[in-house]
Amino acid sequence: MPEIEWTLRWEADLSEHDHAALAALFARYYPRDAATFTGAHSWFGARPEARVIGYHSGRPVAHLGFIRRMLRLETGESQLVADVGLVGVDPDYQGNGLGGRLLAEAAAALRSLALPFGFLTCAPDLVAFYAGGGWRPATGQVTRMIDTDLQPETYTGPALVLPVTASFADWPVGQSIIRDGLEV
Ligand SMILES: CC(C)(COP(=O)(O)OP(=O)(O)OC[C@H]1O[C@@H](n2cnc3c(N)ncnc32)[C@H](O)[C@@H]1OP(=O)(O)O)[C@@H](O)C(=O)NCCC(=O)NCCS
Repeated sequence: MPEIEWTLRWEADLSEHDHAALAALFARYYPRDAATFTGAHSWFGARPEARVIGYHSGRPVAHLGFIRRMLRLETGESQLVADVGLVGVDPDYQGNGLGGRLLAEAAAALRSLALPFGFLTCAPDLVAFYAGGGWRPATGQVTRMIDTDLQPETYTGPALVLPVTASFADWPVGQSIIRDGLEV
């Protein structure tokens, strides 16, 4: 694997040049949505608060974005999570362990911020990838959120949880999760 430099970068510290480099990376690993990632537009739904980025020779080649967010539970309680998205690896670098390394770097970043859980929704065929990084299905869960057309949506696909400083046993299994915003 090439020598990768890993960094945790906050949104207000990124330059237009940084965003343009990230947008170009996302257009490569999300080719179907390439039209979204033009110029310096480096987000899809919710704009990340922070990003774990792997650079090779000064160019971003791996990325995971997150927002610290309170999810609402159907009981009326709230749960703090790092809400994760925009995960990917440059196609030229895929299949060599970099995605797994990205998940490990992200877990370390969330731990350094003392966050109890990571949370994400994903397509069913990606569950195995995330499981390799310690993410576990929140079974019986549906996620209400706002879709990218800005309409309320009930997502019944996989919702995954990463126990960071908390234990998976503390996750409110089986409840509807309400994400009062867009997916990252
Ligand atoms: C998913 C992705 C990040 C994986 O990156 P990668 O560098 O190829 O992953 P790795 O080489 O570290 O593979 C780690 C493990 O995940 C598995 N894996 C990789 N891609 C997978 C996929 N699409 N589906 C299921 N498992 C996958 C690998 O087989 C490997 O398993 P192993 O440890 O048992 O051998 C990369 O394929 C990608 O960027 N895809 C396009 C964007 C995307 O789908 N992002 C995620 C959802 S938003």
